[in-house]
Amino acid sequence: MQLTTLLLSLTALSSLALVQAQTCTTDEDCSLNGICAPQTHSCLCDAGWFGSDCGHLDLAPATRWTGYNHTNYTDPTYYNTRGNSSWGGQIIQDRGDPALFHLLVDQFGHGCGLSAWRPTSFVARAESRTGPQGPYTWVQNVTGSFRHNAYVHWYPAEEKYLLWTIGVDVADPSSCKSVSKTSWPNNISVAAASSIQGPWSKFHITVNGTNPAPFPVLSASSHQGSDAIDSRIALAAEDLKIYVADRWDAAYKLVHTTPPWNTSDYSPTWTEDPFVWQDKRGHWHALAHWMIDIVEKKGTKYPRVGAHMFARTLQGRWNFKLHEAFNSTVAFTDGSVQTFNRRERPKVFFSEDGEMTPLYLVTGVQPLGTTALSYTLIQPIGSAWKEYEKRLGF
Ligand SMILES: *[C@@H]1O[C@H](CO)[C@@H](O)[C@H](O)[C@H]1NC(C)=O
Ligand SMILES: *[C@@H]1O[C@H](CO)[C@@H](O)[C@H](O)[C@H]1NC(C)=O
Ligand SMILES: *[C@@H]1O[C@H](CO)[C@@H](O)[C@H](O)[C@H]1NC(C)=O
Ligand SMILES: *[C@@H]1O[C@H](CO)[C@@H](O)[C@H](O)[C@H]1NC(C)=O
Ligand SMILES: *[C@@H]1O[C@H](CO)[C@@H](O)[C@H](O)[C@H]1NC(C)=O
Ligand SMILES: *[C@@H]1O[C@H](CO)[C@@H](O)[C@H](O)[C@H]1NC(C)=O
Ligand SMILES: *[C@@H]1O[C@H](CO)[C@@H](O)[C@H](O)[C@H]1NC(C)=O
Ligand SMILES: *[C@@H]1O[C@H](CO)[C@@H](O)[C@H](O)[C@H]1NC(C)=O
Repeated sequence: MQLTTLLLSLTALSSLALVQAQTCTTDEDCSLNGICAPQTHSCLCDAGWFGSDCGHLDLAPATRWTGYNHTNYTDPTYYNTRGNSSWGGQIIQDRGDPALFHLLVDQFGHGCGLSAWRPTSFVARAESRTGPQGPYTWVQNVTGSFRHNAYVHWYPAEEKYLLWTIGVDVADPSSCKSVSKTSWPNNISVAAASSIQGPWSKFHITVNGTNPAPFPVLSASSHQGSDAIDSRIALAAEDLKIYVADRWDAAYKLVHTTPPWNTSDYSPTWTEDPFVWQDKRGHWHALAHWMIDIVEKKGTKYPRVGAHMFARTLQGRWNFKLHEAFNSTVAFTDGSVQTFNRRERPKVFFSEDGEMTPLYLVTGVQPLGTTALSYTLIQPIGSAWKEYEKRLGF
């Protein structure tokens, strides 16, 4: 070893020791998922997050045959054999019946599967009487095709559910043939209903863009000292373009145009499909599909699939840590471990006690060795979900 190399290594070693003794100076160093303890300079992570920078979701084992996995459902009238493939969804606890859970899920019609997502995707509602993890069974078609990227949120200002999707209203497809994105716009749309069962209003187009991630409850920024419920909506879209509207159906104004990192395809900070929330401190977070392995491993889509981004205010400055918040390797309660080819569309179900503790991660998954079959996996986070389920009698 040359002397200069040795010196460089020694310098690297001593700065590494410094980093280990002093892992944080600000809460940003703890991914805003905890606080930097002033005495020890180490991060105290909030429930559900772990790691020296609190940047990893603390996923607990998932249970096989929970979530929404109907890939084995074959129907002789289907155009293909991928069952009721789906691609992620959102858990909703029933407002009148707390032991009833709904899953609003992006499902593909006619057994076509993920590769025919456009045009066959539609939004379905499934129910579980066995707890938030499911299994969920199909109950109702919420939309026809083509509708995808469903998000549903309770909107306290008007006591309504809001359903966000991308899509266009077209006739039910007669084959699994994929339609190119240039043929149809992805116009971000929203509909409202006073019950999760519907009926839903007509879709109203809010902004041009794709992959909407709305968050309608701006807690810490709501009218100080007033009982009035904040009616404002935060709406993120691809590449963290963020809009705010005074009401769900009012005009959307762009408040954050572009994050401080490179959003280009094939850059190391390439992401898609954000999910956005505001935490108990009023800070903002996003989980998204990170495409780092596609960039670094010639198109391989796993295992580093989850990116976490955070900012003190919606307007930023947003931060991005270049390590995965979660990966595509899932441990199951039966002791098995499975690495998925794709794991995308992250959505989190939080506690409703004001703590915003993450309880479950919902993702679309595709097993290794398959190309178009997919389903919706629900995985518990940390340990707070156990108490939550116990209180509900599960
Ligand atoms: C999902 O369903 C398939 C059958 O289509 C089965 O092989 C697989 O184990 C199931 N996965 C989970 C996590 O339940
Ligand atoms: C699919 O798998 C589930 C869970 O094992 C089982 O209950 C169901 O009968 C299966 N359906 C078909 C069509 O094979
Ligand atoms: C599959 O989806 C269709 C809706 O297109 C529904 O009628 C059927 O009940 C679903 N089956 C299962 C097992 O999820
Ligand atoms: C649900 O909607 C999809 C998409 O339009 C359609 O293919 C399917 O037949 C519908 N299923 C039922 C049971 O209405
Ligand atoms: C939908 O999106 C397309 C493409 O961005 C755009 O040309 C079209 O005007 C949009 N439709 C509406 C009603 O805004
Ligand atoms: C979408 O883009 C089209 C064409 O640029 C424009 O006419 C339309 O008003 C836009 N719609 C919204 C909701 O911004
Ligand atoms: C952003 O990433 C792309 C793809 O890797 C690269 O071509 C481009 O030079 C990068 N731009 C900047 C400003 O770094
Ligand atoms: C995936 O993440 C889990 C923590 O959820 C970790 O235990 C495991 O080592 C990671 N696997 C890979 C392949 O990185």
